[in-house]
Amino acid sequence: MQDFGTLGKSEHTVVITGTSRGLGLACTKMMLEEQISVIGISRSMVQDESVLDNPKYKHIELDLLSHSYTEALSEAVGDRPISGLINNAGTGGDRNKLAEVDANEVSKLIQIHTLSSIKMTQTLLPNLLKTKNSRVLNISSRFGSLEYERTQKFNSARVSYSYRISKAAVNMLSLCMHSEFKHQNLIVTAIHPGEIFTANAMPDASLTIEQAGALLKSCFFGIEPRHGGLFLRSDLSEMSY
Ligand SMILES: NC(=O)c1ccc[n+]([C@@H]2O[C@H](COP(=O)([O-])OP(=O)(O)OC[C@H]3O[C@@H](n4cnc5c(N)ncnc54)[C@H](OP(=O)(O)O)[C@@H]3O)[C@@H](O)[C@H]2O)c1
Repeated sequence: MQDFGTLGKSEHTVVITGTSRGLGLACTKMMLEEQISVIGISRSMVQDESVLDNPKYKHIELDLLSHSYTEALSEAVGDRPISGLINNAGTGGDRNKLAEVDANEVSKLIQIHTLSSIKMTQTLLPNLLKTKNSRVLNISSRFGSLEYERTQKFNSARVSYSYRISKAAVNMLSLCMHSEFKHQNLIVTAIHPGEIFTANAMPDASLTIEQAGALLKSCFFGIEPRHGGLFLRSDLSEMSY
């Protein structure tokens, strides 16, 4: 079994979902700059030639909402050891009032954020377990924290029910996976990637996409077994579940 800690940067392979744009693309570019191999997943192709032309990048075009992608994924990855998986693909919801909450939206966000993180990890588990201290980073959000919602630490009034509920489920999923795999050298964490300037940024956004991508890459490499089961910011400071 190879050991995460003893591998050179160029020997790592990381699987990242949601690499066509945003945080996933920014993090992919940071990884590629350090010669790390990236297998990226999204429905549309990456619109960045520096990534597409890089031999260390492999793109799998698939919809995480489709039921039949695990075979394509297994085939593309083969039996190679994987150093880690970043379950990053995501989307927002619109409905932030109970009266408007719609089962389709809730179901869709749970599928993208929670069920796809389950399916991705299930599919890649044999590959992940070939590397001692490989890691699964489930990209959550501060709005998935039950404690912060209860205390209204962040103003979540604009954030949809579906987003808050599905990210809370990602947090619980991370804990379940940590409980199961903590003795098998697989480190599982939930990550809040920061307040990022994106199209629908919150008023307290403070990170550019590039800064958030760089932080996420450092987080991926900075995580140690003691971080397993924690809800962390990308700078490795602890958040409340
Ligand atoms: N932005 C923030 O401030 C912030 C804060 C906290 C947490 N987050 C979380 O960070 C993650 C990335 O956010 P972002 O701002 O970078 O979002 P983004 O710019 O909208 O990018 C989302 C990515 O997910 C992919 N994706 C969405 N649905 C998919 C599907 N059904 N199948 C495959 N891929 C799919 C998209 O690719 P395609 O459309 O090509 O499929 C895209 O590459 C999300 O989980 C988000 O909840 C973001």
